[in-house]
Amino acid sequence: MQWRSGKEVRSLFIDFWVSKGSRHFPSFSLIPDDPSLLFTIAGMVPFKPYYLGIQKPEAPRAVTSQKCVRTNDIDNVGRTARHHTFFEMLGNFAWGDYFKKESITWGWEFLTEVIGLEPDRMSVTIYEDDDEAYDAWHKLVGIPDQRIFRFGKDDNFWFMGNQGPCGPCSEIMYDQGPEFSCGRPECAVGCDCDRYLEIWNHVFTQFDLQKDGTLVPLPKKNIDTGMGLERLTSIVQRVRTDFETDLFMPMIERACAMGGIHYGYSPKTDLAVRVIADHVRSVAFMIADGILPSNDGRGYVLRRLLRRAARFGRLLGVDRPFLLDFLPDVIGLMGDPYRELIDNRLTVEQIIDVEEKRFGRTLEQGTDLLDGEVARLRGAGRTELPGDVAFVLYDTYGFPLELTMEIADENGFTVDKAGFDREMTAQKERARASSKQKRSALAGDVYSELNERLGDTLFMGYEGAESSGSVAAIVVDGEEADSLEEGMEGEIILDSTAFYGEKGGQVGDTGTIASAGGKAEVTETVIRCRGLVVHKVKVLSGSLAVGDPVQSCVNDERRRAIRRNHTATHLLHEALGRVLGGHVRQSGSLVGESGLRFDFTHFEAMSKEQLLAVETEVNARILENSGLTVEESDMEHAREMGAKALFEEK
Ligand code: ALA
Repeated sequence: MQWRSGKEVRSLFIDFWVSKGSRHFPSFSLIPDDPSLLFTIAGMVPFKPYYLGIQKPEAPRAVTSQKCVRTNDIDNVGRTARHHTFFEMLGNFAWGDYFKKESITWGWEFLTEVIGLEPDRMSVTIYEDDDEAYDAWHKLVGIPDQRIFRFGKDDNFWFMGNQGPCGPCSEIMYDQGPEFSCGRPECAVGCDCDRYLEIWNHVFTQFDLQKDGTLVPLPKKNIDTGMGLERLTSIVQRVRTDFETDLFMPMIERACAMGGIHYGYSPKTDLAVRVIADHVRSVAFMIADGILPSNDGRGYVLRRLLRRAARFGRLLGVDRPFLLDFLPDVIGLMGDPYRELIDNRLTVEQIIDVEEKRFGRTLEQGTDLLDGEVARLRGAGRTELPGDVAFVLYDTYGFPLELTMEIADENGFTVDKAGFDREMTAQKERARASSKQKRSALAGDVYSELNERLGDTLFMGYEGAESSGSVAAIVVDGEEADSLEEGMEGEIILDSTAFYGEKGGQVGDTGTIASAGGKAEVTETVIRCRGLVVHKVKVLSGSLAVGDPVQSCVNDERRRAIRRNHTATHLLHEALGRVLGGHVRQSGSLVGESGLRFDFTHFEAMSKEQLLAVETEVNARILENSGLTVEESDMEHAREMGAKALFEEK
């Protein structure tokens, strides 16, 4: 077998399947278009609708090398030869096209003729009653009977979830030789050690699993395969672990040089360099795909990986921010074909820089605190770290719980996770209570009572600047009143109004409210409770009383000015994204009659050039003077039309 680089292995795979008539799709994003998944975890994920039959495939056969992130085993990463958080899955796919016979024989052709794996080192597993797969392996490929193993549902049936397309699968195992064996007498195909490596899973997606557990045959039979690029490369390069392939080695070497250590001499330092090499790849790819560090979801995984890598650097004796040193390696190794790393290099750098520095400031203090606690508890003969200590580390020092657990574990300690959860719940309660307090202090109880009694005010302002309604309530100095006389100030609540109440950073309307017997100037419109529109008024003439039919009339010129500024926030948001990068997110805004303020996330002050570019872009759009149409639609249709949703808007 010829030595080949990881990059060559990837291209050979793609070229091979293209030669078999497959369409090559560049890797899809790590963020799947599927709310049930945090990350793309397999090559088939982006093609899920094709398997489900809800979309017609763009091509009947496809090949990808797909970026994947799996987070279920983070703690094992670095401890074993082959666990990764980020990896590439090589896969060939077919929907209602070729099936078992072709997938198996062509797969074999690739491994033996293109890569050069020795046929007699390979064995295969098949699903227990899959005679079609047996025949393909035995009769067409020529694998002897004693190297074809039949296993049950647990091993040889692949499910996408607890419902949906699934099917029997067949795995190809490669015997690395006795020197890789765990040495136990029972070590054979199926053993978890490194001797018999599972290299390629071929799934014959031919059933649709129903809710009640029955398997209904799909009208079309599909193929979904997956083979880890890193693993195959480790075999091709004849190295003991994925980390010793050229896909990782530059980073391993850099980490060793940084820590002044040799690779392969101490399990403890080997673990640290492997963790760093693995996590740096994940972090770079995640940020390049638009993920930002945060305290939940994908952002939390990113933060956790970045902080875990940073801490392992400290274990190598590196006590400065260092993760950025690895970025040129990641880009050098992966920038082709993953251009997103190059295109978003600045963002990736900035985010790693800010996040690592932020964590670095508290890492030492947090570690001191943790070490102190561990020593104190050990002295008292205890081996469990209390939940409140883990919570302080999380809340004040930014230690993800898993990091605390890992450090505790290194010291032979466990963490009281239930205690941690209790602290977390208590803190959320406190936050909720204080925000409630704030709200009721601002609003006063009269509004909640009114809202309870009257319900939300009907907003008629989308239809025009005027509308008729009647006075539902009057409030003077926090108390309900029956009427307001000439010259008095107070608040009027209508059953329906044309006035927009201040909301979402946009100021409320002003104008007049008039009845047959009086007229008031509206100086401000606010929203109380959930949807009670409160007009702050001064009576200009006559009087207004509860029950009076009135006409509400908005100062339309001012409203149009506010509306223009509102539209300008959208133009500005778009322009910022184009100039600074797709990571820019709105975090607040203030829209008024004479200007607007737009708050957004970015990692440094904008340069003069960037400001100018944004300004030019926005002005160009304004000068285009495009038409504006209003259309009501459901969410799905809006998405199809390319609508942008902010703050998870409904
Ligand atoms: N989807 C299959 C897997 O992940 C190929 O193993």
